[in-house]
Amino acid sequence: MQIRLLSILMMGVLLTGTVIAETPEERDARMAWWREARFGMFVHWGLYSGLAGTWKEKAVGTRGGMEWIQNSVGADTWDYAREAVPRFRPAPEFADAWAQLAREAGCKYVVVTSKHHEGFCLFDSSVTNYDAYDLFGRDLLGEIVEAVRAEELRIGFYHSVIDWHHPQYDYDLADQLPHPLHGRPSPNGPRDHEIYLDYLHHQAEEIMSKYGPIDVIWWDYSKEGNEGAFWRADELMSMVRRKNPEVISNNRLYHIPHIERDDSVGRLYDWKPEQGDFTTPEQTVPSTGVPGVDWEVCMTMNTTWGYSEHDTAWKAPETLLQTLIDIVSKGGNFLLNIGPKADGSIPPESVEAMRYLGRWMRVNGEAIYGTTASPFERPEWGRCTQKGDRLYLHLFEAPADGKLILPLALNEVESASVLASGAVLEVRAIDGGVEVSLPESLPSPIPVVVLNRRAE
Ligand code: GLC
Repeated sequence: MQIRLLSILMMGVLLTGTVIAETPEERDARMAWWREARFGMFVHWGLYSGLAGTWKEKAVGTRGGMEWIQNSVGADTWDYAREAVPRFRPAPEFADAWAQLAREAGCKYVVVTSKHHEGFCLFDSSVTNYDAYDLFGRDLLGEIVEAVRAEELRIGFYHSVIDWHHPQYDYDLADQLPHPLHGRPSPNGPRDHEIYLDYLHHQAEEIMSKYGPIDVIWWDYSKEGNEGAFWRADELMSMVRRKNPEVISNNRLYHIPHIERDDSVGRLYDWKPEQGDFTTPEQTVPSTGVPGVDWEVCMTMNTTWGYSEHDTAWKAPETLLQTLIDIVSKGGNFLLNIGPKADGSIPPESVEAMRYLGRWMRVNGEAIYGTTASPFERPEWGRCTQKGDRLYLHLFEAPADGKLILPLALNEVESASVLASGAVLEVRAIDGGVEVSLPESLPSPIPVVVLNRRAE
């Protein structure tokens, strides 16, 4: 009896100490839907959404992440809550509109902030009152999960390991990470990081247990010295994988991969599969992709993740479409952000951009979903994606003389056509390649030419 008990206890230690092992084939099977999906919607929504970039009647700025407003103004959590809580007013059924928009845009998954750095939780947590259920009587995360699933999309949670609310989050120990009180003494005396970690782990277990299978866990974030072991990351991830064996995780629990604009920086490439399934270039597209690694670019439509009434620097919808194609042509995924307002409504500029993408995706989605990186170096006329025997040529700028030149031999080419219309195009051999004759009028925006390669 005692021996049995002992061996059960030992197994527990083994299971909690290591992240669940799998073969490369098992990993490929787990990653399959994500690699196929290529396009997801990110949502940043929390108390900051109600402040909307304004603190005590003053604009905090017109650019940059306004989900950081508590840190930007150096407010402690009580001052922050006093200002922000009365302004956060979720309307009924807001989540249906989010999910419908994601579906309409052609996204296959939605990643939503269960908790951002401010520490406010969209779910009902048993270990804090600083959550949507205790303050507003609603499990907002549950409403979002349900709406997203009703549109047959996958669901992921962005969860911040940084926490500006918890009284034991030790910001002196977490000195590489931001905190509104940095440089000031803790108002409640010395802090105990381990107590915060228990809280973090407990809440992660809550969101991993309450809502059925979760498709993505998107941690944010670590820096050298405050990474991995600092969060008891292996233990955390083994719990997450035990609760959700199929879940896909980013690698920010173990390191912050790359925020700099200069993508020659090695950290993006310095990726270890046991530290997360994919890496996350932020606000930038690596110029040659990240070969051999799963990666996902996350990006805002203006310059802030959380809603700001002052940020009008909206990217043109066509720019976002080119970005999507550019990323996919390099083998990555695109996680495009919306920052809803306090009532859950989506800024009209974002709605318009998502619909624009959706109109293109409905006609040309075949050239995105399930495709892989281009076999060509970046061509002058645009980008290329491929699937099986097919090459998809995305014409950002169709050649003025209507002749598309490709570095292929004629006997490699079976046929060519316009994806949107099916119009068949003539292909002939020229010096050093083939020439595809384009019709006078092409669909807009960004026409796609399909080139069927001859099976060998
Ligand atoms: C950053 C920021 C954050 C944003 C995120 C999205 O690390 O801290 O505000 O949520 O990245 O990638």
